Parts: sequence; C-alpha cells; structure tokens
Amino acid sequence: MGSQPVNPACRARLAALRGWGQGPYSWGAMPPTVAPLKIGDHQIWPPLVLAPMSGVTNKTMRALYKPFGLGLTVTEFVSSNALKYGSKRTMEMIDQHGLEKPVATQLWGDDPVTMAAAAKVVRECGADIVDINFGCPAPKVTKTHGGSACLRDVDRCEEIMRAVVEAVDCPVTMKMRLGWTEDQMVYVDVAQRAQKVGIRAVTLHARTARQFYKGSANWEHIKRLKQNLDIPVIGNGDLDDAHLAMTRMRESGVDAIMLGRATLGNPWLISQIADLMEGREARPTPPPAERLRFCIVHYRRMVDELGEKRAVPQMRRHVALYLKGIPGAAVIREQIMRIDRADEAIRVIDDAIARIEDAAVVAA
Ligand SMILES: Cc1cc2nc3c(=O)[nH]c(=O)nc-3n(C[C@H](O)[C@H](O)[C@H](O)COP(=O)(O)O)c2cc1C
Repeated sequence: MGSQPVNPACRARLAALRGWGQGPYSWGAMPPTVAPLKIGDHQIWPPLVLAPMSGVTNKTMRALYKPFGLGLTVTEFVSSNALKYGSKRTMEMIDQHGLEKPVATQLWGDDPVTMAAAAKVVRECGADIVDINFGCPAPKVTKTHGGSACLRDVDRCEEIMRAVVEAVDCPVTMKMRLGWTEDQMVYVDVAQRAQKVGIRAVTLHARTARQFYKGSANWEHIKRLKQNLDIPVIGNGDLDDAHLAMTRMRESGVDAIMLGRATLGNPWLISQIADLMEGREARPTPPPAERLRFCIVHYRRMVDELGEKRAVPQMRRHVALYLKGIPGAAVIREQIMRIDRADEAIRVIDDAIARIEDAAVVAA
C-alpha cells in the first residue's frame, strides 16, 4: 500500500498536546493497515469518523477531539426547516469556517425542496460535505417524518437525496439505520438508490429505528451492505475498544468506521484506533490524573467558547464520563452535579488530581 498521507496539522497538534510521536514508534515509519477514505475529492486519513451526536458534538468538542486522530467530523444534526428561520443557535451550528477540516454538516427533514435549500445554505457556510440524516429515531424528529421515519418511504428518501445532490457542488453523504422495524430492513435498497443519485458515501448504524439503542449493532448487516455497494461504506455501532474496532472493520470490509458514545470521556480510544490504522501498537490509556487534566482543558475550552451558563450544565455529563474508572468517582460526580460555577467545578477536579497524585507518591 506504500506510505499513506497523515494529516500533518493533526500530527503536529497531537504531538504538541501529549508529547506523543516521540515514543517507541516514529510517525509514518510503519505501513498503514488500512487505506484512506475517499469522499469525492476528499482523501480522509485516517478513515476514522466522529459520530454526530446532538447536544454533544458541538464545534468546541469536535475541535478538541479531532487532534486525537479523527479523519472526519460531522456536526450535530440541523433541521432543514429551522434553517428557514436562521436562529442564532442554528447559525452557530452550521458555521464551519474554522480549523476543523474537512467537516460534514448534517441535515434532517422530509421535504426534498426544503432539504435542497438547506443544503445550499450549509454549503455556503463552509460545509465540505453535506450529510443527510435517515437515522434519528427520536420521536420529536420522526413525528414530522424526518430522520429514520424517512425509511418508511424509500421513494421519498430517493427524492430527498437527488434534490440535495443536485443543489450543491460538494459531496453529499447519507447516514441511516437498518430500517424502521425488523420487518422493514430497507438499508440495501435505500443505499443503492443513494448510489444511483450520486451520494458519495453511506454510513450505516446497524440497528433499526424501533431498537433505539437497545440490543447490539449487527455488523453482519454492515458487511452485507458493503458487498452490495460500490461507493464507500462507513460502519457504525458499539465500537468501544480499539482491537474490536479493527476486527469489525476487517471482517465487514468497510472503508471507514464511525465512533460515537465510547469516545465521550475517552478520546484516547480515537488515538488507539488511529495507532492501529497507522500500523503501530495502540498506546495505553493515560493514567487517571492525566485524564482529569484533559477534562479540565475540555471544561475551560467550553466555558471560553460557550460562556459559563451554557458550558456548566453540558460539562456535568462530560465530567461524569471522564471520571469513569477514577478512584472516588461517585463522590466527585455528586459534587459536580450540584455546582453551578465553572471555577468551583474545576477546583473539585483539581483536588481529585492532587489526591490521586498524593496516593501514588505514598504507594511508591
Ligand atoms: C446523544 C446522542 C445524540 C445523537 N445525535 C445524532 C445526530 O445528531 N445525528 C445522527 O446521525 N446520529 C446521532 N446519534 C447517533 C450516533 O451518531 C451513532 O450512530 C450511535 O450513537 C451509534 O454509534 P455508537 O455505538 O458508536 O455510539 C446520536 C447518538 C447519541 C448517543
């Protein structure tokens, strides 16, 4: 396969962040184990995508996690209808004139004309790729026939995809579930229609809409989709370990993988997978104090960019996730849940770091 491109900006930022790249391996010395993901003219390396997560993967979060080794990030989904009104929050979500490149802006809606108009707007606002959501199972979306509800009408899906592809001069991708219910697994049909109208890649979260997040993602369906499609397939669902992720990628034959919930509070999973993709051993997860230090970086960045009032409630959830596996986590979590001020929350995390480090000195 020869030497594959490694995003130099990503490499430099990663190395600066943690002193990585100076360990037992040197960047690019080993042959990569997978190929870059090609979406239109974009060569995406590594073929590792951060899942769109509404209420979570805002711009701050994506910019923080990207240097861990993501090739592509996707915005939280944006309602094509809401774009008509151009609220401040919506405009914030679609403004992609930042450092994070390439980035896909995801749209949902059930009307081809509105979706096409929305695609033009998000493209003008800096999207490198427009992604269509046929996967969201949330009632507030499906009751207006959007998200995964579109899968109940495959002709409608095709109309939406064709309208969006014709509206913009950048690649259009689509993310879907298996179907509305177990009796209506339409994913191969919808993906083949996607390919026919010019969609450049399809992501499959291998659950039905009815499943929400219950049961497990069935990667046999992802493998079947890959066998039935010529455009790139991105596999998604339940990847929470670096070796598991690589096994799923190899066995299903997909062109890229997408990671969601397992990265929250654990962006090091991204680096571990990127390591394996680049042909190195996966680095170990950093020790608790180092993980909490990054949590503080995350906290401060959110406050700087969103302001304290918005950042503090959002960070409660993130801190709880960074605390997983940390000694005394339950007590710290409870304190964080009650605190309304960022400086106080950061002090609690700082104190936890000091305790962990003192305990390590005593143990040594
Ligand atoms: C809180 C949350 C919000 C989500 N929001 C979106 C969204 O806006 N668009 C989308 O396509 N999928 C969304 N998803 C689904 C994820 O992108 C992903 O498909 C799903 O979590 C399965 O991947 P995982 O097992 O790696 O988490 C969301 C998932 C979660 C947990």
